[in-house]
Amino acid sequence: MSNTIIEFKNVSKKFENSESYAVNDVSLSINEGDFVVILGASGSGKTTLLKVINRLYEPTHGQIFIHGKDVLSINPTIYRRGIGYVIQQHGLFPHLTVRQNIEVVPKILKWDKARITERVRELLDMIGLDWNTYENRFPRELSGGEQQRVGLARALAADPKIVLMDEPFGAVDAITRNKLQEALLELQNKVKKTIIFVTHDIEEAFRLGDKLIVMNKGVVQQYASVHDILFKPANDYIKSLMAGENFLDKLQIIAAGDAVQQIEWDDRYPETFTIKPDDNLKNVYQSFIEKNINVAIVKKGDETLGFITKNRVDDLVREILMAGIEG
Ligand SMILES: Nc1ncnc2c1ncn2[C@@H]1O[C@H](COP(=O)(O)OP(=O)(O)O)[C@@H](O)[C@H]1O
Ligand SMILES: [Mg+2]
Repeated sequence: MSNTIIEFKNVSKKFENSESYAVNDVSLSINEGDFVVILGASGSGKTTLLKVINRLYEPTHGQIFIHGKDVLSINPTIYRRGIGYVIQQHGLFPHLTVRQNIEVVPKILKWDKARITERVRELLDMIGLDWNTYENRFPRELSGGEQQRVGLARALAADPKIVLMDEPFGAVDAITRNKLQEALLELQNKVKKTIIFVTHDIEEAFRLGDKLIVMNKGVVQQYASVHDILFKPANDYIKSLMAGENFLDKLQIIAAGDAVQQIEWDDRYPETFTIKPDDNLKNVYQSFIEKNINVAIVKKGDETLGFITKNRVDDLVREILMAGIEG
């Protein structure tokens, strides 16, 4: 069974002197270890939804539970220390070195010196910065991408279970953003945090998220896996949002015959269906989803050429996303 870490129950937030709700009646659960992306246009309520999690805002109505505990019943300072928070303008202290920036929370937690040193170096290593070169630099001596990496290291310093990221890569150039996204996915493979990541960039959302929370005007339009957003759009808003995305069409130019795998048949695959070598992968992919079957046999007449797994096609989709969506 999946393990709920964060639960929103009818959470709404209305700011004073505002006519409308910034966040309107949000109820959803987030599983431990998931990478969840909040996607929406500017002003749709993404930041507000994030800030009610770490209690920078209090909801006007509703409740938030962490591991089943109402967050309002937890001391806010202690509570916040268990949550990493990364923002667009990295939020590093300008007068502190890289090392001192990362040390802040471990020091508050009174870790001993050796443990802190070890942790700082381990984190710099994890985010791909050589500690020898970087640990004594000041933020102004770092590139934008490096500053964001240090911001991430700082957020992870005390090993929080939850990491909140608010458009963390929004202010860097496209090439750097690509590298940061890769680094974050790699990092997540190692540390398996529960990450809630805000972006207005669909491509970034698809690339990073296991699940997406799509917001419009404070209302959650759909909360689902990337697959379901694509193939089971909940409403016209999601449909129109996805209409502009064409990366699945790129699967159309790949023939099943060119993607055949010679896999060992095993019990993981109780069911299958048959496709022809010249079927295109977009159709195959849609069949995987519709039939809820994870492997297809590629047959030319009676001859079996091999198999294609859904994982294989997922990888191709991801590769296409990694390569960027031109035009
Ligand atoms: N501190 C605030 N006071 C008043 N209104 C706010 C405040 N923060 C956000 N809002 C309003 O709430 C809505 C949602 O904002 P926000 O959550 O920042 O959206 P997003 O992060 O998706 O751009 C917007 O209409 C915004 O103007
Ligand atoms: Mg915002």
